[in-house]
Amino acid sequence: MKMFNVYPVNDITITKAKGSYVWDDQGQQYLDMYGGHAVISIGHSHPHYIQRLEEQLHRIGFYSNSVKIPLQEELAAKLGRISGKEDYQLFLCNSGAEANENALKLASFHNGRKKVVAFTRSFHGRTSLAVAVTDNPAIVAPVNRTDNVILLPFNDEEALEACFRANSADISSVIVEGIQGVGGIHLATAPFLQTIRRLCSENGAVFIADSVQCGYGRTGKFFSHDYAGVDADIYTMAKGMGNGFPVAGIIISPQIPPKFHMLGTTFGGNHLACAAALAVLEVMEEEKLIRNAEVIGNYLMEELETISYLKNLRGKGLMIGFDLPDELKDLRKNLLYNQHIFTGEAKPNVVRLLPSLALRKKDAEEFLDSVREETEAMTLKVENA
Ligand SMILES: Cc1ncc(COP(=O)(O)O)c(C=O)c1O
Repeated sequence: MKMFNVYPVNDITITKAKGSYVWDDQGQQYLDMYGGHAVISIGHSHPHYIQRLEEQLHRIGFYSNSVKIPLQEELAAKLGRISGKEDYQLFLCNSGAEANENALKLASFHNGRKKVVAFTRSFHGRTSLAVAVTDNPAIVAPVNRTDNVILLPFNDEEALEACFRANSADISSVIVEGIQGVGGIHLATAPFLQTIRRLCSENGAVFIADSVQCGYGRTGKFFSHDYAGVDADIYTMAKGMGNGFPVAGIIISPQIPPKFHMLGTTFGGNHLACAAALAVLEVMEEEKLIRNAEVIGNYLMEELETISYLKNLRGKGLMIGFDLPDELKDLRKNLLYNQHIFTGEAKPNVVRLLPSLALRKKDAEEFLDSVREETEAMTLKVENA
């Protein structure tokens, strides 16, 4: 049997990882400024994480949601305290798309409505409704297409007001990333998020904050939406939550009551997943990683600002993006193969930085030195051509 070939891959096989570094099967070390797509939150192979998962495996790895799993309550309590949303309710699942699918479905159960407002350049996942609210027709199959989605321009308060005036009784939810990730690191403005909050409250719609990529402390606050001083009705989470173990969840405001069987999953909230998620929060707290993300993120932003070749620098904490002029369009490739540094991308010509929240200043310096070296060499080559 062959693999179903859907991923364009780099010809690199990673066999070992530690902190912000990974090693390939030839022993070559790489700096990981991509965090395996924003997933590695506390650093690769953290000793506490390994120990907690190992111990849990020796006890019990999985049993279904038909029995009490006290680790779930422990996780809910810790997550409530660290995120500042102590009165919210936790539902656990397995991936970002599934989290968004559940959030959209729950909103519709709650207010009995069908329409969802989403925004240009958004990405919310690849399952049926999550992909329908994603602004990329190439990944929306005919079976996913629905008239229930209203796609509006991002950060456009007037368009949103007009949409609510025209459809107020039909809008079930509004889903928005605090910082668009796949779309190329675009920050939702505070007035925009505040307008979403107000219009949802006034019209009985549910505000869904997709925090799959921009959440879990990456931006220097637990949820990037917190910068706008608003509380969403539902936050969706995945990626950094398990530092690589597939665990995801939604937290739900106390105004939305649960009913038996309205949501469910076989694997969600299993013992091993909870142990992974707890280990992540324990390390985040112990090592003050949310603060570290803010401090190292600010340092990176200040230094990147001085590299004049990079355009439209933007981001918060350790979620940073910049545009590349055409002559530097191979920068990511050169960073990978000449400097042995992984970075993320977005189309067209956007570099995305999504490293572990435990990135140290010296790792950031190594990255900056390499970017300076590569951009200067590439620019010189163009000038001499
Ligand atoms: C903002 C956002 N939402 C949802 C998802 C989907 O997450 P998953 O790939 O875990 O289904 C992603 C993945 O990149 C994402 O960035």
